[in-house]
Amino acid sequence: MRNRKIVLGVAGAAILLLMVFFKGTELGARCLANGGGSVGEMVRGETGSGGEDDGHGLGGSYKYHRNMPLIFIGGVPRSGTTLMRAMLDAHPDVRCGQETRVIPRILQLRSHWMKSEKESVRLVEAGITKEVLNSAIAQFCLEIIAKHGDPAPRLCNKDPLTLKMGSYVIELFPEAKFLFMVRDGRATVHSIISRKVTITGFDLSNYRQCMTKWNQAIQTMHDQCKEIGKDRCMMVYYEQLVLHPEEWMRKILQFLDIPWNDSVLHHEEFINKENGVALSKVERSSDQVIKPVNLEAMSKWVGHIPEDVVRDMADVAPMLSVLGYDPYANPPDYGKPDTYVQENTYKVRANPQMWEHKVNQLLNRDGNLPPNRDGNGNNNNEDEDDYGNNKERKT
Ligand SMILES: *[C@@H]1O[C@H](CO)[C@@H](O)[C@H](O)[C@H]1NC(C)=O
Repeated sequence: MRNRKIVLGVAGAAILLLMVFFKGTELGARCLANGGGSVGEMVRGETGSGGEDDGHGLGGSYKYHRNMPLIFIGGVPRSGTTLMRAMLDAHPDVRCGQETRVIPRILQLRSHWMKSEKESVRLVEAGITKEVLNSAIAQFCLEIIAKHGDPAPRLCNKDPLTLKMGSYVIELFPEAKFLFMVRDGRATVHSIISRKVTITGFDLSNYRQCMTKWNQAIQTMHDQCKEIGKDRCMMVYYEQLVLHPEEWMRKILQFLDIPWNDSVLHHEEFINKENGVALSKVERSSDQVIKPVNLEAMSKWVGHIPEDVVRDMADVAPMLSVLGYDPYANPPDYGKPDTYVQENTYKVRANPQMWEHKVNQLLNRDGNLPPNRDGNGNNNNEDEDDYGNNKERKT
């Protein structure tokens, strides 16, 4: 409890400092002068690795501001959010990039302040009204989203848990849209447990507990998505995206008002290329999106979930049925893949060494290391913090 207060206090001081700093900048001055409508600018070719114009005729400068149509990708971690962002990143107009990690945390911090009556009163007494706080948080998030990767006409953010605070995000960015990745919870939980992805509140030694936590998290997100409404939040089923990539990418780009480009169906050709798909060496899913869209991950969970949990599945995770997954089918029939997805899957299976080599090469890994270690060869045991902040866990 004491620890938590200290954490909140320190983070609070950090935001105040940021706000003071922001007020002192030219941007801040302009912002205060025109009533909060601050506009930043990014220039393609100025940041990133390449430097030179990319030769696609896309060089140019892009403004960023609170009323721009940002794209947010949300969902329970291990539900295809990385695949989704890689496919969008392959589009020349879109840049998502790696998880920023700080955006869901800053939103969570603010939500703690709002929940504490004492803290809320103190903030208002100090002149930090809802408007001041919102504009500071929006500006912080916007700056992170704009500057943590290459400039692009359409900016996108993939920090999966942000959707838990989705309606607040829409309050900050009224033109933003959410893509809500939904996946069979049994597959998600199997992936979380087998890849040792730590998420606040999930006990990785307990399938039943993890299914319960999955159910809670997806319920919250489902409620948020409903509240945001169909015009601003689209549900994307991971299985359908993988089985029918073209059909779904067409729907998704239409929803986002982005012109069609075939490159979204070949994201693997754009890995670590300029204006392509920048991969993180430490995100767990990087090794998977190096491969073309394929069926490998679809039913891996079958046979790995303890029998008593399988038996009680409908009660443990009622959201399965709500989302249309038969809790008694192991696995359910997800549908028939498009021919080219089936062909990709054969290609991936035919030459495992070649793909492993490619992964090691692109992620700069030592070929002898198992995938659960990071790019520096460190075991991730002490990294208790993939998603969420453990210091705040005991509440
Ligand atoms: C599609 O994207 C590719 C790769 O960025 C680009 O070279 C091409 O010009 C784009 N095509 C259209 C029709 O915009």
